[in-house]
Amino acid sequence: METLTSTHTAGTAGSYRPALHYTAKDTWLNDPNGLIFHDGLYHLYYQNNPLGNTWGNMSWGHATSTDLQTWTEHPVAIACDEDEDIFSGSIVYDRHNTSGFGSGSVAPLVAIYTSAFKTGSLHEGVQAQSLAYSLDGGYTWTKYAGNPVLSRGSAEFRDPKVFRYDGDAGSYWVMVAVEAKDFQVVLYKSDDLKSWELLSTFGPANATGGVWECPDLFPLPVDGDPANLKWVLTVNLNPGGPNKGSAGQYFIGDFDGAAFTSTSTVTEGLQDPDRLGDYRWLDWGRDYYAAVSFSDAPDNRRLMIAWMNNWEYANSIPTTPWRSPMSLPREISLQTNDGKLCLVQQPANDRTTLAGSESFCLSGTTIDDDVRFLDGAEGTVQRIDVSFAPGSAEQFGLILRGDGAKGTRVGIRPHQATLFVDRRESGRTDFHPSFPSIDTAPVRGKQGSYDLTIFVDRCSVEVFAQDGQVTMTELIFPAETSTSLAVYAVGGAATISSLQVTQLA
Ligand code: FRU
Repeated sequence: METLTSTHTAGTAGSYRPALHYTAKDTWLNDPNGLIFHDGLYHLYYQNNPLGNTWGNMSWGHATSTDLQTWTEHPVAIACDEDEDIFSGSIVYDRHNTSGFGSGSVAPLVAIYTSAFKTGSLHEGVQAQSLAYSLDGGYTWTKYAGNPVLSRGSAEFRDPKVFRYDGDAGSYWVMVAVEAKDFQVVLYKSDDLKSWELLSTFGPANATGGVWECPDLFPLPVDGDPANLKWVLTVNLNPGGPNKGSAGQYFIGDFDGAAFTSTSTVTEGLQDPDRLGDYRWLDWGRDYYAAVSFSDAPDNRRLMIAWMNNWEYANSIPTTPWRSPMSLPREISLQTNDGKLCLVQQPANDRTTLAGSESFCLSGTTIDDDVRFLDGAEGTVQRIDVSFAPGSAEQFGLILRGDGAKGTRVGIRPHQATLFVDRRESGRTDFHPSFPSIDTAPVRGKQGSYDLTIFVDRCSVEVFAQDGQVTMTELIFPAETSTSLAVYAVGGAATISSLQVTQLA
């Protein structure tokens, strides 16, 4: 049995250590990898530097959870060596032992990861896909002697996400990966996870700044109807997000077992910076990257986790000894809103799981060109549910993690139909010139109302607007003493129809 190294709960090691979001105890992490629900446990593997708190020595760290909220960190699962760094990838449960890695009655978990071959190694300079397997439920891993199993001789071929396809075209494994600099998702099929055959490619399409990384492809019912499935292709890109730097876009369409056809592509070809707002983004904030979904999540739920950071400043954020949290796990679904199909996201833990105590409520309060501090609503780890009815104000919203009128502003500009997070006065911003920013997302009133659910967690703010139709995720680094919460309106009046604060620490 494995050794459990640590469980991180609220308040350990420093005022920025989140209570609700996963962080490694004292090391660096980036992309979530190999997300899988297996034998009653959610496994979260991730890009990890076991030896430091900046990027390097890329290996797969490992944590597990029974409830997607409290995580237990385990020893490194797959470690880099003198030949290769272990870049991002995925894990499947090979229940019929198609790979032959099983033993007796034990079917293997198989990790498909990118070998980033090092200088001096046999495949120097190449990125290719490799396998490792586990027969003890995901704690210890053996690399396959026949690695790599899929090479294109490319230096930018990475981030394989593998799933089981069972459909009209047959039953086999499908891999989606990227040719990062070509803005291409490449699709392969296999019967045994070891030999792979090219199916098709997708892209370039929509946003093509930087490189494409960490793709995912999965079906979702439209408006909850299992007889009406659409496929969603997610592609992370860096830089080139809607508010600069790293972000994830998605396409909706069909997959026939060989090719993905998008019905949501706006433009083909090179990126048009003026069109970023027309593309579909998983999240409009600066800190939601490398999002990928779980394999085998219970009840057919599609659950995603992203790395809560941005490559623009990732190595400089002022946390120690750990660096970078994961996002909250999210459940995603496809909904028709105003005649348009779009992804909708909710925190995967419902209110009950996250339950704390509702410490503060307010309703039917109008403010006019004013900032009103909410005595009794102070906190550093909270869920805020707020509905605004716009009046004459040109902007209105909340100032959270505040100190006087300074703090992080989460607001709405109704005439511009935008939601924004302004973190210019959010606390420490001096560690990187691109960190202080006002970031925006398109949002429309719903029957005249703007509804926000906001999770504040020591060093982050995650906004789910209009029931999860638009999300914005941002890191912030306020002083421990900046705890006030205020509502405000500028240039006229706005009404807070309801506001409820639930303390979650
Ligand atoms: C995305 C990424 C992946 C790569 C990994 C390396 O953040 O660049 O493309 O596999 O990080 O750590």
